Amino acid sequence: MLKLAVCVSGGGTNLQAIMDAIDSGAITDTSIEVVISNNKDAYALERAKAHGIHAICISPKDYESRAAFNEDFLAQLNSYHVDLVVLAGFLVVIPEQMIKEYRNRIINIHPSLIPSFCGTGYYGLKVHEGALARGVKITGATVHFVDEGTDTGPIILQKAVAVQEGDTPEILQRRVMEEAEWKIMPQAIDLIARGKVSVVDGHVKISE
Ligand code: GRF
Repeated sequence: MLKLAVCVSGGGTNLQAIMDAIDSGAITDTSIEVVISNNKDAYALERAKAHGIHAICISPKDYESRAAFNEDFLAQLNSYHVDLVVLAGFLVVIPEQMIKEYRNRIINIHPSLIPSFCGTGYYGLKVHEGALARGVKITGATVHFVDEGTDTGPIILQKAVAVQEGDTPEILQRRVMEEAEWKIMPQAIDLIARGKVSVVDGHVKISE
């Protein structure tokens, strides 16, 4: 059984896709032990509770310092003894110590084809604004392992999505979610659950 912690900050549509895929069997032998949000108002927390999944809120705003938050965030995460940490729209910088302790056990979904439109400043709608401003014809989403950089860890899966005439950032964001994010995030978790994913010389190998 692959045990997950899913970290969220917003609407939770990727969390919903993961929960639905576990229920349908599209994700093998996996359970969500805890959903963690930095935002007490995140609708993702409602989604978790509606699904009977334990959900907690840990916010840097509630701590004297970032160091104190980082230490408690890691301690609380460790208390759930999970195998994999899934960042599903989580807008908090992951503590370096957490990255070290969970090397190649933290995955993130980014709404572009990395290395395009990623890194510092590229999150949420800003990613799609950048793609539209550049005039790319193809964008998409990426699931990758998290390392010390921003959107720089080994890439697990990517899926392309066509940009259409008249797209606004909001329309494009929704299409990328529907056609890419909600498919490759569950798919990546299932591959990991089935032991099909390894990292060799900084690159992901998938043995299907
Ligand atoms: C998604 O677009 C994801 O790519 C990005 O943050 C957004 C989260 O959306 N990292 P949701 O909370 O899963 O609906």
